Amino acid sequence: MQEFRIEALSEAERTLLAKAKGVRKKAYAKYSDYKVGAAVMDEEGNIYVGCNIENIAYTGSHAERSAISMMFANSGKKKIVAIAVHNKDGGSPCGDCRQHIWEFCKGNPEIPILLGNESNPTKIKRTTIGELLPFAFSIVKR
Ligand code: THU
Ligand code: ZN
Repeated sequence: MQEFRIEALSEAERTLLAKAKGVRKKAYAKYSDYKVGAAVMDEEGNIYVGCNIENIAYTGSHAERSAISMMFANSGKKKIVAIAVHNKDGGSPCGDCRQHIWEFCKGNPEIPILLGNESNPTKIKRTTIGELLPFAFSIVKR
């Protein structure tokens, strides 16, 4: 996992991160006080956003999977080429989200994941789905 200043990111990466940061304001994190915003990009460069939404039973939804749902619902696309996440401390996607992201990376472990945070906005982490989820679950056909 590498750390970058925002200036070192490409235009497309900056846009994606800005979308994740923007949608984070809409998160409903009444119980954890931990707001998350996520943005995914499809092969055509279209961006879809999602935020976490909690409930009293603690069975809420996660930003990353919500963004992927938005891609499905609004475009029918099934492949992501990049994802950005924004939260207060640069925390990375949970295990469930990693498996879900991997599903739509269509076998490419190099799909980038950008992690932005509000505590040090100039420090952006960049990793890949392959780094976050080595030995992902799959079913070997035989
Ligand atoms: N959260 C996400 O939205 N994505 C993750 O992968 C990690 C956790 C949310 C769930 C909950 O609303 C809050 O962050 C604290 O766990
Ligand atoms: Zn998650």
